[in-house]
Amino acid sequence: MSENSLFLRQVQLKLDDALSHLFEAQVLPEAFGHSAQLFDAMHYSLTNGGKRLRAALFVAAFEAVSSTQFPDQLMMVAMAIEALHAYSLVHDDLPAMDDDDLRRGKATCHIAYDEATAILVGDALQTLAFELIAETETLTDTQRLQMIRTLAKASGAQGMVLGQALDLYAEQKSLTLDQLSTIHRLKTGALIRASVQLGAIAANATTKQLKALEDYAEHLGLAFQIQDDILDVEGDTDTLGKPQGADQALNKSTYPELLGLNEAKQKARDTAQLAKAALQPLPEKSTLAALVNFAVKRTF
Ligand code: IPE
Ligand code: IPE
Ligand code: MG
Ligand code: MG
Ligand code: MG
Repeated sequence: MSENSLFLRQVQLKLDDALSHLFEAQVLPEAFGHSAQLFDAMHYSLTNGGKRLRAALFVAAFEAVSSTQFPDQLMMVAMAIEALHAYSLVHDDLPAMDDDDLRRGKATCHIAYDEATAILVGDALQTLAFELIAETETLTDTQRLQMIRTLAKASGAQGMVLGQALDLYAEQKSLTLDQLSTIHRLKTGALIRASVQLGAIAANATTKQLKALEDYAEHLGLAFQIQDDILDVEGDTDTLGKPQGADQALNKSTYPELLGLNEAKQKARDTAQLAKAALQPLPEKSTLAALVNFAVKRTF
């Protein structure tokens, strides 16, 4: 196992442990059998694997600038980020959006449960994210507020949701490369950037360090989604855990579609290089650099 996948694996284990405590602590109103279905479906969508890259970026950004070890209490924030991401996936897979039936190797939430439940699961995971940050006791009020503002902006109508809207409106249309890169930076890049920014906020990064981390994340977010587009063309459904060829079926603009596969791969490599170069001012860069390599070399 490479050093980099070992780091991801450690974050995955810590996160899964924190999530199981979180779900154990939920108190369900016993008089309504149906509320159990909502919690089941939230649990199904949040604890069903996933690379946990955004949680890992949060931890790695913290460790890149902090002189202290990552405190376990901050897994609350890592859970918040992954809850928000899981919400985006549950809604992304809905029939009204990408209409996919497989996610992380299992039936998507609306197939395993039903569409209304999947909509509500997304709603509930989104608000859970902000609740978790608000309840992270080791942070100062200022840090919590900064994190909530950063995550809200990155995921809402100036960030991920806008990117998702533009992605849907662009189906069946041909886009310029600039337009496509804007969509990718919004629908995927914004949450990746926020994950890194939250790590910086938790570690009280200096303005210069924050700027370096933001530049890093900006490039990483784009490189990550270019690789996602590439895997849609040349990955396989079993390894991906989601349907290969989904973009083409919906006539989505993607990097391979606009540039051809080879040039798209070159663009992913070049963008990854820019992400690594941005780390130069930071005291500790190896984990963040390794996560970039993972983002563009992954097969799932
Ligand atoms: C999938 O994200 C959605 C995109 C933004 C491309 P990931 O590839 O990180 O999905 P999981 O969390 O590992 O399942
Ligand atoms: C999804 O992009 C981005 C978000 C979920 C916000 P995609 O639609 O390309 O993601 P996959 O390929 O379904 O994971
Ligand atoms: Mg989509
Ligand atoms: Mg999709
Ligand atoms: Mg995709």
